[in-house]
Amino acid sequence: MLSGMDQPVRLRQARPADYDRIAPVVDDWWGRPINAALPRLFLDHFFRTSLVAEQGDELAGFLVGILSPSSDTGAYIHFVGIAPRFRGGGLARRLYTRFFELARADGRSVVRAITSPSNHGSVAFHEAMGFTVTGPIAGYDGPSADRMLFHRRLDGDASDSR
Ligand SMILES: CC(C)(COP(=O)(O)OP(=O)(O)OC[C@H]1O[C@@H](n2cnc3c(N)ncnc32)[C@H](O)[C@@H]1OP(=O)(O)O)[C@@H](O)C(=O)NCCC(=O)NCCS
Repeated sequence: MLSGMDQPVRLRQARPADYDRIAPVVDDWWGRPINAALPRLFLDHFFRTSLVAEQGDELAGFLVGILSPSSDTGAYIHFVGIAPRFRGGGLARRLYTRFFELARADGRSVVRAITSPSNHGSVAFHEAMGFTVTGPIAGYDGPSADRMLFHRRLDGDASDSR
């Protein structure tokens, strides 16, 4: 029998109940208080376009994504997080690639995301994933809330299929 560490990390569609496993870990995974930016509504209403990565029963990562209800061509990634011990092995790339596939299958042609200017890891990750980076945009999310903006076309190139 495989021990936990030897099991593959599997991706699956999220479920509303995953919120109760995700919410307690995000402040630790981000290294700062971030939980307020991920209220339960995201799992309740967007679980079909969100993903969970697990190794056995252990939560290894997650992605909260949206197919825009207001733009037929747009998709948006609100949160991606990987547990510290699973970082650096391509797991966030796998989650993004799976989300790109489901967005393309729904006819979406552009994916967007944003982050704080201080989140250099997120900026580097999105650059590696082929996103164009704009910013910082002063006051983007209200007074004193500057943001980096990312967008990436879904043209079916090979860079997200590793
Ligand atoms: C950012 C984060 C999601 C990356 O997850 P990961 O599984 O380690 O990323 P991957 O291993 O899939 O990396 C994919 C690519 O991004 C690059 N990358 C990822 N994190 C990076 C970092 N901190 N600095 C530089 N490059 C990085 C990798 O080098 C890799 O490039 P390559 O495929 O060209 O070699 C993870 O560090 C994390 O959860 N951070 C805390 C939460 C957060 O900030 N989320 C993003 C904002 S919502």
